[in-house]
Amino acid sequence: MNITVIHGPNLNRLGHRNKKHYGTLTLIEINKMLEERAIKLSISLKIMQSNHEGEIIDFIQQSCNATDGIIINPGAFTHYSFAIRDALDDCSVPVIEVHLSNIYSREGFRAKSVTAEVCAGQITGLGAQGYLLALEGLHFLIKQNKD
Ligand code: DQA
Repeated sequence: MNITVIHGPNLNRLGHRNKKHYGTLTLIEINKMLEERAIKLSISLKIMQSNHEGEIIDFIQQSCNATDGIIINPGAFTHYSFAIRDALDDCSVPVIEVHLSNIYSREGFRAKSVTAEVCAGQITGLGAQGYLLALEGLHFLIKQNKD
């Protein structure tokens, strides 16, 4: 099973930026946790981070045929990128959206996700654990779809 993980803008700053909302782990540490869980589940992971909308879209398009599912934290693009939404929609694999913070308990503009509408599910507010739960959830969904 192949799963693609996409981290959007400013997530390269994890461990430094607003620890109250995003916790203390760095992106490298989160990716390591994901790799360790993936090994246990016999999943091969492809992980990327980008601060650029077009790069994320290119990556979704390129990965689409070679992946069984996508985990994405689109960062602030969550709230307004119809282009990332369309790229995810065009890729007919299950997608789980992850947010470290609870986007529904913060500023009003964060309470709208234009990307979650084309996802199988969303995990928000559980910190780095959310990524691991997304991996477990996607593993379950993909297996279920294959049976
Ligand atoms: C975020 C929430 C977004 O509103 C914000 O712009 C981020 C991180 C999260 O993981 O909680 O960059 O996606």
